[in-house]
Formats: sequence, C-alpha cells, structure tokens
Amino acid sequence: TDKYAVFGNPIKHSKSPVIHAAFAEQCDQAMQYRAVRVELDGFERAVANFFAGGGRGLNITLPFKQQAFALADERSDRAARAGAVNTLCLQDDGSLFGDNTDGIGLVRDMVANLGWRLRDQRILVLGAGGAVRGVLEPLLRERPRSLAIANRTAQKARDLAAEFAELGALEGGGLDLLEGRQFDLVINATSAGLQGEMPELPGSLLTERSCCYDMLYGAEPTPFMRWAALHTAWAVADGLGMLVEQAAESFYRWRRVRPATGPVIAQLRSTLA
Ligand code: ATR
Repeated sequence: TDKYAVFGNPIKHSKSPVIHAAFAEQCDQAMQYRAVRVELDGFERAVANFFAGGGRGLNITLPFKQQAFALADERSDRAARAGAVNTLCLQDDGSLFGDNTDGIGLVRDMVANLGWRLRDQRILVLGAGGAVRGVLEPLLRERPRSLAIANRTAQKARDLAAEFAELGALEGGGLDLLEGRQFDLVINATSAGLQGEMPELPGSLLTERSCCYDMLYGAEPTPFMRWAALHTAWAVADGLGMLVEQAAESFYRWRRVRPATGPVIAQLRSTLA
C-alpha cells in the first residue's frame, strides 16, 4: 500500500482524505492517504521524514505552499509561476517534483463540470492573495478577452497584474476600478466569506449572462453567491468542484489514472448539508 498524505496547519477540516479514498476505491489503487497536522516550524523535517519512511506523494495546504515550493527539486511551469506548490511527488531518482493543481482545478470545474466559457470572456478576479496567484496562469491559458484583478488593497492587485503581464491582457487595481464596468465571469478569491463578508461591489457589475464563482464553499450559499443571485447572475457556483478537481489532478500526477470527479463532488455535497 503506497503512502500519501496532506500536510497543513490547521488540518482538522480537510476533506482531502475522503476525496482521495473515494478516488482510490474507484480506480482500484492500493494506497492510503492521511491528514497530518504539521508544526509551523517543522515543515521541512516532516517532509523529509515522510519520504524517508516510504511516502510517495504529498498534498500541501496552508500555510506551507511557499515552503513546499522552495523545497521541491523540480517544479512545473504553473507551480513556478504561482510560487507555490500544493502537490509533491517522489520521482524515481529520489528527487521531489512540485506541482500546483489549484488553477487547473478551478478551470476544469468551470469549463468541464459547469460548462462555462472562458475564451474571449471578460473575467474579473476579486482578491490578490495566494489563492489568486495560484490560478492566474491556468486562467490566462484559456485566452479570456481580458482579466481584471480587483482587491481591497489596490497595490497588491497592481503588483500581481504586473508580475503576470506577459501572459495576457491583465489589469489590476482597487475595487473602485469596477465602477461602471461589466464582466462575463466574476471569480471571488477573497477570504472575506470566512467572516461572512464580501468585498464592496457595485451591483451593475453583472449582465444577465454573467457567471459567478466563489472559490469558498459551505453547506449554505456564501455571501458572494447570495450577492450574485440577488443581482441575477446567469449561473452561480461555489468552490467544492474546484477542491475535487485539484485533488483529481494531484491523484493523476501520482497514479497516472484519472478518476471520475462527478460522483465524488456529489458525495461531498451530500455530506456538507
Ligand atoms: P489567500 O491565500 O486565501 O488568498 P490571503 O493571502 O490572506 O489569503 O488573501 C486574502 C484576500 O482576501 C486578500 O485579497 C484580501 O484583501 P487585502 O489584500 O486587502 O487584505 C481579501 N479580503 C479578506 N477579507 C476581506 C474583506 N472583508 N473584504 C474585502 N477583501 C477581503
């Protein structure tokens, strides 16, 4: 039985063990997957011990994604762009490969599961933290017409836009950037919903065809989802599908088999309520 785990702190509420157990059963893979709470100053040692003890692959969650990036011997392009790694994979020569599957997870959920179009669309991303950094490259790869990043702290959005400028038509700024503008797709990547809040947005942001995606999820619609519904978005979704899709991409990286995600998303959804 091959050993896998997710490292984070806190880790109690992680759904990764349930997701990977479902994938393993579905794909007939002999593997175990545990959630491990790692001390804040003990990440490197914990990773070394895990692989020395026969571990094959790790998921990395908050607050260790940058440390995992630094620790990887080799990195995928998208991980290099994000400056963060959520998947570590032991290679045959004993070295560690680091990938970041968050962005592809988001794109797959929107395009393959929800049937939303990204190409030629005007995309707005709310927030400018690590969650945004992780998804910009895969989003821009879909060739949207434009991508705007708006954040409470304008400078952080401007800096991100400058950093990714060579990948597409990007602009960054404060929430005041949004006055009088409309977007086809709005992605909330702020953590405001965790406090039951959301960024101050003009209601005129949406057209009757706009889609709204919250990277957070919960048993009930998030504040951003309620705002989107109130302003009659065409379609609204939360981030549960992204969670399962990023896990599926990690699973594929490790096992070279691609699990069906639909049944696992449905299974998780039924346990949230
Ligand atoms: P993550 O890794 O989840 O992106 P983060 O780096 O702490 O976490 O970023 C949190 C994001 O949510 C930031 O863009 C933050 O805005 P600031 O850069 O201005 O701090 C945003 N955010 C958090 N609470 C918010 C709120 N109540 N209203 C608007 N934006 C909020």
